[in-house]
Amino acid sequence: MNVKKYIHPRNKYKRPPDYKKLAILYPEFREIAIMDFSGKMRIDFKERKSLHVLTETLLKHDFDLHVNIPPDNLNPAIPLRLNYILWIEDLMMHSKLQMDKVTGIDIGTGAVCIYALLLAKIYKCQMIGTEVNKDSVKHAQECVRRNKLQNLIEIITVNSNRIFKDTMQNDKVYDFSMCNPPFFESEDDGFDKVAKILPPRNASTGNDGELKTEGGEVAFVTRMIEESVEMQDRIKIYSTMIGKKADLASLRRLLRSRNITNITWTEFCQGYTTRWGLAWSFVPQNIVNLTTAPVIRKRGKSIVRSLKNYKISITFPMNDKFSYIDDMISFIRATAEELNIELQNASEDNFDNWSCQIIARERSWEHTRRKRRLAQQIAMKRAKGETDECIEANMCIEETSIKIENDMKKLNEERSDKKLFDDTPLLVCKLWVEVMGIESSDSEDIITQSDEIFRIWMIFEDGHGGLDALHSLRQYLINKLGVREKILDNPLKIKKKKS
Ligand SMILES: C[S@@+](CC[C@H](N)C(=O)[O-])C[C@H]1O[C@@H](n2cnc3c(N)ncnc32)[C@H](O)[C@@H]1O
Repeated sequence: MNVKKYIHPRNKYKRPPDYKKLAILYPEFREIAIMDFSGKMRIDFKERKSLHVLTETLLKHDFDLHVNIPPDNLNPAIPLRLNYILWIEDLMMHSKLQMDKVTGIDIGTGAVCIYALLLAKIYKCQMIGTEVNKDSVKHAQECVRRNKLQNLIEIITVNSNRIFKDTMQNDKVYDFSMCNPPFFESEDDGFDKVAKILPPRNASTGNDGELKTEGGEVAFVTRMIEESVEMQDRIKIYSTMIGKKADLASLRRLLRSRNITNITWTEFCQGYTTRWGLAWSFVPQNIVNLTTAPVIRKRGKSIVRSLKNYKISITFPMNDKFSYIDDMISFIRATAEELNIELQNASEDNFDNWSCQIIARERSWEHTRRKRRLAQQIAMKRAKGETDECIEANMCIEETSIKIENDMKKLNEERSDKKLFDDTPLLVCKLWVEVMGIESSDSEDIITQSDEIFRIWMIFEDGHGGLDALHSLRQYLINKLGVREKILDNPLKIKKKKS
């Protein structure tokens, strides 16, 4: 995918920063810069410290902003922050509001109050940054003082149960609000899963308090929407960033269910990550019309094309349950049936390999995983000695919320997928199963049964769920196969079994 095509046209990081120049100008950048054989300067994106220094250097060089990012805090990557800010500028201009006259609220401003700093510095906006974490508040206030922006930025501590209520002053009207909410659920494995499954491109930064919240971003933004219904046009344009595409669909649906139709959404595309922006307004459409505001939205197909033939694998030693390729074929057929996944073009069973194509139309494996988690919870509660009535009462609540969540997911998929992706399935991928042998150092060709392993290749072919769907199905299969602890992907030496 040509990322540059979708990054905001006024985003200066459409062109990558000149690392050589930064290394010459800034000693601290020089320390983390690496010169490769061709004389090209780069940095190690897997090093958290390098990311922090890069951000600090760019803020200094491009915006004359002086900050230090605390080692345990989130690295506020500038290209993404700038994409959001430029979209806010588009919305303000579209609504005939002048940037140097507007007042904005940044919800969850963080230790660096990055949005407030950039908006105040670039446009001279009046900004209020809210934050629940006391250390972050202190650090953000220090950033404001250090950059002499006290006349434009106010940082306030708020109560975690409220989004806007501690912030609004009497009858004052604010022009916009923005937010980069904590994305992950407190109990969610998504946070760790993302870190474990995805190939490590960038070091993860940020602590649990910054990245996790009860109920994840949907719950956080839902509270924001509910409070906005009470406050109506006290804020002219409410906005938030969204981390997951499925959540964007849920939240758009929630807005519609509250009869809020003056809405818009956009994509923030930079590097490998895509985020989404959602905005809504209670101001009459003849004054603020978000439905006609400029946006950036790429077609689903363009992501898919770039993923074509991306492959991942599940490799594990043979065991009692899976000791012949027939066992694996039966397992895949049964799983596909259980998950309502189409299985096509299955090849002949060749003793040591077998292939087929699978077509999934919904994330049925995710619902199954939740059910399994629920069953585990019941078993644990029984073991703890809870009575069946008590378990039933508690589980009823959980099951109801799971059902609501599933129903919402289904509806979202139906609505947003139909609109955005016509009839493209969620995931089309080829499965290729091989029996292989681990090459041992002392024998050249002889493979004993105990050295045999299974490798299931999953090759992406199509589908709007992209790599996310592929990886989540892989994780489901690993769990179902019961080989989580035995995964051997990328073993040092693997060779095809000789027949
Ligand atoms: C993902 S971080 C975003 C930080 C910063 N805005 C950025 O973009 O880098 C989310 C922030 O929201 C804060 N937060 C969580 N709940 C909040 C609430 N109810 N009101 C204000 N801030 C909150 C967290 O402490 C954290 O600093």
